[in-house]
Amino acid sequence: MSLNLQLDRGAKTPLYQQLAGQIKERIGDGRLPPGTRLPPVRRLAEEMGVTRLTAQNAYAELQSGGWVEATVGRGTFVSRHVQADRFRSQLDHPTPESAIRDIIRLEGSAGVHTLASASPDARLFPADEFWGALTSLRSELPNMVSYIPSQGEPALRVALCDHLRERGIDAHPDQILVTSGVSHGLALAARALARPGDAVLVEEPTYVGFLHSLKAHGLTPISAPLDDEGPDLEALERLIAQQRPRFFYTVPTFQNPTGRCMSLARREELLALCKRHGLMVVEDDIYAQLAYDEAPPPPLKVLDEGGLVVYAGSFSKTLMPGLRLGYALAPSPLAERILSLRRADDLCGAPILQRALAGFLQDGGHKRHLRRALPIYRERRDAIMAALQRSMPPGVTWTRPAGGFCTWLTLPAGHGFSGLLQAALEQGYAFAPGASFLAEPGPQQHVRICFGNQTPQTIRTGIELLAALIREQMERPPGPGEWTPLV
Ligand SMILES: Cc1ncc(COP(=O)(O)O)c(C=O)c1O
Repeated sequence: MSLNLQLDRGAKTPLYQQLAGQIKERIGDGRLPPGTRLPPVRRLAEEMGVTRLTAQNAYAELQSGGWVEATVGRGTFVSRHVQADRFRSQLDHPTPESAIRDIIRLEGSAGVHTLASASPDARLFPADEFWGALTSLRSELPNMVSYIPSQGEPALRVALCDHLRERGIDAHPDQILVTSGVSHGLALAARALARPGDAVLVEEPTYVGFLHSLKAHGLTPISAPLDDEGPDLEALERLIAQQRPRFFYTVPTFQNPTGRCMSLARREELLALCKRHGLMVVEDDIYAQLAYDEAPPPPLKVLDEGGLVVYAGSFSKTLMPGLRLGYALAPSPLAERILSLRRADDLCGAPILQRALAGFLQDGGHKRHLRRALPIYRERRDAIMAALQRSMPPGVTWTRPAGGFCTWLTLPAGHGFSGLLQAALEQGYAFAPGASFLAEPGPQQHVRICFGNQTPQTIRTGIELLAALIREQMERPPGPGEWTPLV
């Protein structure tokens, strides 16, 4: 394997450091994944035209930093343990993009227990049942080699209508657009509703991936504060008048990152307010089926009498994100515009997976899976609540989610918490930096903790570690230049 390294022989940096630096870059950006075997010293030296000592020194530097592991007789391998240094700057000063990238990367890093990712537990995925749905399509494969309608496989849209009925949504297959996850539906809706430079109202805090999407499309997120029942409507009304936003993005049910669920009264008031102002609403209902206590209120889509709501959901949280299958439902004529954008983007999705999911849904596989998985996720939610209660120092508060995968930790004012998440990562536990969920990132005063993909024992140990680190930071004076919130 060639590493495609390049040396600058006129540079002041010693050759071995140049080699080590470039290999670190390749490990850091994923081109050399954990477990990759690096060329032997002799080959690296020959390839790069350097002495063996230089190549050896490069590997020694990588080894001392924990980037690679060497075993006599076997060779040198990219370390399977996380290199906490790779995440240093981003954890304290995350952008939505760096946060998304790191959350995904951390999931694949051996040696890290990640409570940073709002993902389901891959070990619970009903692999055999889903595989059965796929293999049963074998004889029909010749009918699935071509493009399909941009709206998605008809069989899947029919199955989705049944699926949506469980949320009280009465839809016709023609009204449904199959998307590549909620992200796709949200991005299409944003492009159909707004132009670069426009303002978009979001909740504060809000889903980090959509913040990145808005910014990537040249849109400006403006945030409206949330209370326990949902968005603060007075603030929302003020922002509508001041900023003239194109739409309001909300995750009313088991929100990410807070886990909060908007009350029925607030849903109704919100819709009335949006109707008065002619403001469109983009509703992300991705967590609604993960309810641990009682059934959540109906989605905004069901309460919408004014044709204001674009609705998006997917199977990323109930089944697996790797499926990349979701759905969107929009009022006409917006639905046609969204469909046209989708057709322009990639013509259509992949028929094989869409047909497999249709079969899986129709056979009741999804319902059976939820019946098995929900008690497990509920136990994890209870474990994290108990661990927070037991371990966190006074002044730290958190939300109690009645569903979904997230709880939102607020750290006490008057302290500096930079370095907190880095210190946790160095001890093998990852948490998501709260600042990345804010349209206008401030100081490190929040942490999002996810409990879906870890066992109760790992959750307990992770929370105890985080609590000990928070205590430590609260006892030390803030460092020079460290932001210390006063209120
Ligand atoms: C609120 C919310 N919306 C959308 C997504 C992404 O969903 P999908 O994988 O369906 O694109 C996530 C993932 O974390 C999320 O939390």
